Amino acid sequence: MDKNILEDILQNNRKYIKLGEVATYIPQLAKANKEDLGLCIKDMNGDMYACGDYEKKFTIQSMSKVITFTSCLLDNSIEDVKKTVSFEPTSTAFNAIVDLEIKNRHRPLNPFINAGAIACISMLKENTYQEKFDRIINFIKLLSLNENIDYDEEVYESERKTGSRNRALAYYMQSTGIIDKDVDIEKLLEVYFKICSIKVNCIDLSNIALIYANNGVNPFTKERYFSKEVSKIVVATMALCGMYDESGEIAVTVGIPSKSGVSGGILSVLPSKMGIGIYGPALNDKGTSVAGLKILESVSEKFDLSIY
Ligand code: DON
Repeated sequence: MDKNILEDILQNNRKYIKLGEVATYIPQLAKANKEDLGLCIKDMNGDMYACGDYEKKFTIQSMSKVITFTSCLLDNSIEDVKKTVSFEPTSTAFNAIVDLEIKNRHRPLNPFINAGAIACISMLKENTYQEKFDRIINFIKLLSLNENIDYDEEVYESERKTGSRNRALAYYMQSTGIIDKDVDIEKLLEVYFKICSIKVNCIDLSNIALIYANNGVNPFTKERYFSKEVSKIVVATMALCGMYDESGEIAVTVGIPSKSGVSGGILSVLPSKMGIGIYGPALNDKGTSVAGLKILESVSEKFDLSIY
């Protein structure tokens, strides 16, 4: 891989920024600089190739759902997880309500839509809501190889104040028994909002992705953080559901299991090879970085990375 080629790819795709808009439904996210664009790729040897705004911090948003799902699989049998959430793609938006009522016996279709992630947090085995959050942020510190990870208090407050849709999803799931009746929905959502507000950069994302690319093992220390089986379930679900109702299109054009977030980040896992982190806050109408996606497509094409 050549850093100059990556730099060219980033610059050539900058023109797509103008086709997108930063997220505004979470008011604090509207403050992002639309022009930011960053890329970081890390391979199994520890070689890192980065360009643009790869050190810029942004909130992890829905990319956290990868870590939440992993934690849920570590705490529960696959049979129990499947009683709450399935692994099927959606054809509606990441925060849609309609599917919960009419499809899949009220289970969220997959753990990467908002309803699925909220249900997964409710299944974590910690005793208190604070412990659930601590568990996820500590796991993110471990996987990103970055002890200094923290969350953004202002984004958290902004999400908490404006999170009516997520409240609707969570209360609806409690009414159908997908979330246990004893769960304090407000406290559960505080954990969800706080997890979404954890700050990362492209390097952190590439490190997290690299652990999944290596089936749960840190390639540098050889430490195992989760089993190969769990890693395979998570990466397969990313390939099918990670980019919401655009996952099929992206499987065809990119072919790298990925997870996006409305901050403009994309976390991509190339099994046995590399972890990729991208940032560009101008989003397409599905809530994914518009120029970021084009960069991923170009990188995949240039270096023939599609897994298919
Ligand atoms: O709950 C929300 O709507 C946000 N905190 C996360 C949504 C998200 O990142 C969807 N991604 N494309």
